[in-house]
Amino acid sequence: MKNLFADRMSKVPRSFVREILKVTENPDIISFAGGLPNPRSFPHNELKDAAAFVLSKSSDKALQYSSTEGYEPLRDYIANRYQLSGLDVSTDNILITNGSQQGLDLVGKVFLNCGDVMLIERPTYLAAIQAFGLYEPKFVSIPLLDDGVDLDILKNMVERLNPKLFYSVPNFQNPTGISYSMEKRKEIGRIFNKNRTIFVEDNPYGEIRFMGNDLPPVKKYLKKSILLGSFSKIVSPGMRLGWIVADKEIMNNLITAKQASDLHSNFLSQMIVHRYLSDYDVETHLNKIRKMYKIQRDCMTTMIKKYFPSDVKYTRPEGGMFLWVTLPDGMSSMELFEIALDENVAFVPGEAFYSDDPELNTLRLNFSNSDVKKIEEGIKRLGDSIKRLELKYKKN
Ligand SMILES: Cc1ncc(COP(=O)(O)O)c(C=O)c1O
Repeated sequence: MKNLFADRMSKVPRSFVREILKVTENPDIISFAGGLPNPRSFPHNELKDAAAFVLSKSSDKALQYSSTEGYEPLRDYIANRYQLSGLDVSTDNILITNGSQQGLDLVGKVFLNCGDVMLIERPTYLAAIQAFGLYEPKFVSIPLLDDGVDLDILKNMVERLNPKLFYSVPNFQNPTGISYSMEKRKEIGRIFNKNRTIFVEDNPYGEIRFMGNDLPPVKKYLKKSILLGSFSKIVSPGMRLGWIVADKEIMNNLITAKQASDLHSNFLSQMIVHRYLSDYDVETHLNKIRKMYKIQRDCMTTMIKKYFPSDVKYTRPEGGMFLWVTLPDGMSSMELFEIALDENVAFVPGEAFYSDDPELNTLRLNFSNSDVKKIEEGIKRLGDSIKRLELKYKKN
């Protein structure tokens, strides 16, 4: 059977996170491993009403095939929201996708030939390595600093390698929680506007800022770009709805690629989400999520301070769902993972988020999916696990 599969399949790692999630299905385990929103944040009743409305009033339409671009009123809504925030985006610039994950796949399909150079952040979103990896580019990773990507290295690589794409998550990045500063967003405009490289801006977490001031999308400073959005973190991931913002030429190619993939995204979902967004105040809903995640993040950082050895470093994101931990040099987060499982607590070892040369002492913690009590207990157990690993190293 083995030599029947396309070569590309053997080059892409299976999602390590999915493997870990299997282990953590055990209810005794406190898991900071997954990347799930808190189900308490879902608008359960509101979506029930929206679904009942759509199915009772427009079921002929909702249950029928539809256009590849997506439900026009939903695309209008998205374009309108960008316009309110000062971005020049029209309905024609919006393509509805099956989550932003499909957006990544379509971008890969439209732009990447085997062997093309593609820049990514270091570390980066694991499933982006997977999605783009299937098109067999040559990844070149650019280090992330506390305020965004290292611009000197980025500029050098853009000029030297003339890549087609740079994939970036500028707000509350998965896995690190790091966001780009205002200065970096502007400087990226100056770099990319002089070169052919397209900045692919993946922004599923931008609306979940619970501290500090909102910053404009990098798109604002770019002459050409691709911006990906998602309803997964602000409404529900199970609806599988996201979108791509792109100019006409890119859009035409994306539409062709999407037609070949799935004709169009789930139309019933699109109509339900649109009904929900029209009938309810989304800001009230977002504020509820922001408040919830701030409490959980604060709890996690307070507990880390209390229970982790003082030479363990960690990010303090102002939004999103993840923080990033760096253990002292020479410590392995994979070994820590084994000990932590024994203490019934889980996380994702950082090496999953690198396309090459991983930093073995790093790990990702999710704070959105656990309530305060679990965070308190889980971080205490993780602190104990780190101490056990330190002791093991001392003995050897
Ligand atoms: C950075 C990033 N991009 C894309 C996605 C995919 O999200 P979805 O397909 O649910 O919109 C995720 C999900 O966790 C993510 O963290």
